Amino acid sequence: MSQHTTPSSVYSIVLIAISMAAIVSLFLVPSSAKSSPPSSLSSSAEAKALLHSDWWGNFSSTNHCDLAGIVCNGVGSVIRMEPSLFYCNRRLENMNWSSLPNLEYIDLSGSGLTGGIPNEIGTLSKLTHLNLSLNYGLNEAKLFLQSNQLDGFIPHDIGRLKNLVELNLSHNNLSGSIPKSIGNLTALTQLSLSSNRLTACIPLEISNLTSLVEMHLRANILQGPIPREIGKLKNLVELSSSHNNLHGPIPPSIGNLIGLTLLDLHSNKLDGSIPPSIGHLSSLAYLYFSSNELNGPIPSEIGQLKSLIMGLMDHNKLQGPIPQAIGNLACLTVLDLNNNLLAGHIPLSIGVLKNLEFLNLSTNFLNGHIPRQLGRLCNLEYLYFAGNELKGTIPEELAYLPKLKYLDLSHNNLFGKIPDCLCLVSNFSLSNNPQL
Ligand SMILES: *[C@@H]1O[C@H](CO)[C@@H](O)[C@H](O)[C@H]1NC(C)=O
Ligand SMILES: *[C@@H]1O[C@H](CO)[C@@H](O)[C@H](O)[C@H]1NC(C)=O
Ligand SMILES: *[C@@H]1O[C@H](CO)[C@@H](O)[C@H](O)[C@H]1NC(C)=O
Ligand SMILES: *[C@@H]1O[C@H](CO)[C@@H](O)[C@H](O)[C@H]1NC(C)=O
Ligand SMILES: *[C@@H]1O[C@H](CO)[C@@H](O)[C@H](O)[C@H]1NC(C)=O
Ligand SMILES: *[C@@H]1O[C@H](CO)[C@@H](O)[C@H](O)[C@H]1NC(C)=O
Ligand SMILES: *[C@@H]1O[C@H](CO)[C@@H](O)[C@H](O)[C@H]1NC(C)=O
Ligand SMILES: *[C@@H]1O[C@H](CO)[C@@H](O)[C@H](O)[C@H]1NC(C)=O
Ligand SMILES: *[C@@H]1O[C@H](CO)[C@@H](O)[C@H](O)[C@H]1NC(C)=O
Repeated sequence: MSQHTTPSSVYSIVLIAISMAAIVSLFLVPSSAKSSPPSSLSSSAEAKALLHSDWWGNFSSTNHCDLAGIVCNGVGSVIRMEPSLFYCNRRLENMNWSSLPNLEYIDLSGSGLTGGIPNEIGTLSKLTHLNLSLNYGLNEAKLFLQSNQLDGFIPHDIGRLKNLVELNLSHNNLSGSIPKSIGNLTALTQLSLSSNRLTACIPLEISNLTSLVEMHLRANILQGPIPREIGKLKNLVELSSSHNNLHGPIPPSIGNLIGLTLLDLHSNKLDGSIPPSIGHLSSLAYLYFSSNELNGPIPSEIGQLKSLIMGLMDHNKLQGPIPQAIGNLACLTVLDLNNNLLAGHIPLSIGVLKNLEFLNLSTNFLNGHIPRQLGRLCNLEYLYFAGNELKGTIPEELAYLPKLKYLDLSHNNLFGKIPDCLCLVSNFSLSNNPQL
């Protein structure tokens, strides 16, 4: 539209920009592109390793440092490998890792890698980051069995990567056990082995990883107890080990992990009672204990979890009353205790949980009246008390909860007048209260 009237000032700006770009490019050409291909012995060994891997096909590039996903240092030595336009069925063990001694960073997540993790990966002594997540084809390769890797498919020599800070092998198809040598990775701050087929126990040696901030072991087939020694991991902020076959009690030493914000142990076979030491976790925001076989009372120390946002303990065998101290959890938005053996009255103190949005106490043995105080939960959207032994009338106050959408009070012994107006509630059930 304004093509014919472009002011001359625009031209001069463009000219300046072009000449500046030219000047800048004189100085900022990447070293790999500026210099002629390095010809030192070591870098030709590296080029050979990349060529023989067949990951880039039969490349004829003059410089291996120009390959997609490869970053070299000034002398043509590979220091980083990053995801690029990788095609499927690239085999991890086809790379001669011992030829790439200067590698510091490997992120080959979601790169369609197959095969197994070779022991030679342990020769990468400068490695700080190893991310092989989301390569669903990584499993025990035939080649692996032939080379006698019988001590597990995460190779033992991984323990030689003393400088490793982040290790992410999640979302692969790795089987075997977690090697004990992992305890030698003392610089590790982030460990994720989630979503594999790892079996056997969590090795005690994991407790040597005292720098760990995040440990994720979810969705494997891990067995045995949670080691008591886990209490040594004082820097942990996130611990998840849900969807495994862990059994035995939650060790009381878990209370030493005072920096934890996430503790996710749901869907295991944990039994025993919840240790009162849990009350020390004053930073804990997310506590997921659902679908285990936990029994005994909910310790009143739970009331010390001042940062708790979500407390999920449903589908266990928890007994006794809901502690009054639950009213101290001022940040709580979700409380799910459904499907337990809880008895006694619903504590009045629940009425002070101003942030509560979801409350499910269904399928327990709770008795007594529904406290009027619940009428103060102005953020409550979901309220489920079905399948208890609650009696008395439905407090009128519930009808005025401004956000309540779902209300299930079915299968109780409620009687008396139904509040005139539950019209704000889009979905409610009062069925199976014989006297209502
Ligand atoms: C790679 O390229 C060279 C030279 O073009 C050729 O001789 C060789 O057969 C090729 N190899 C494969 C596996 O395609
Ligand atoms: C791998 O590289 C190392 C070091 O460069 C070399 O000694 C070895 O022969 C190579 N292995 C294979 C199978 O090419
Ligand atoms: C995972 O490993 C199992 C057993 O080796 C194999 O049957 C399955 O096909 C693998 N899955 C993928 C996605 O490669
Ligand atoms: C690994 O890669 C995935 C996907 O690119 C990314 O989300 C994740 O943060 C990385 N993790 C680590 C430990 O580098
Ligand atoms: C590991 O990789 C997965 C998948 O790419 C990602 O979701 C997760 O955040 C990573 N874990 C860590 C500890 O970085
Ligand atoms: C850990 O490293 C030490 C010293 O390097 C070594 O003696 C030990 O065998 C290693 N432990 C494991 C379980 O690999
Ligand atoms: C590593 O862990 C094992 C098992 O808990 C323990 O016997 C050993 O003393 C620990 N090593 C170090 C250096 O802490
Ligand atoms: C609440 O608990 C009941 C009883 O265990 C269960 O059937 C229902 O699905 C739960 N509701 C929600 C929304 O989780
Ligand atoms: C009410 O909730 C029940 C159980 O969640 C569901 O089956 C039903 O379709 C819902 N009805 C409406 C009108 O949303």
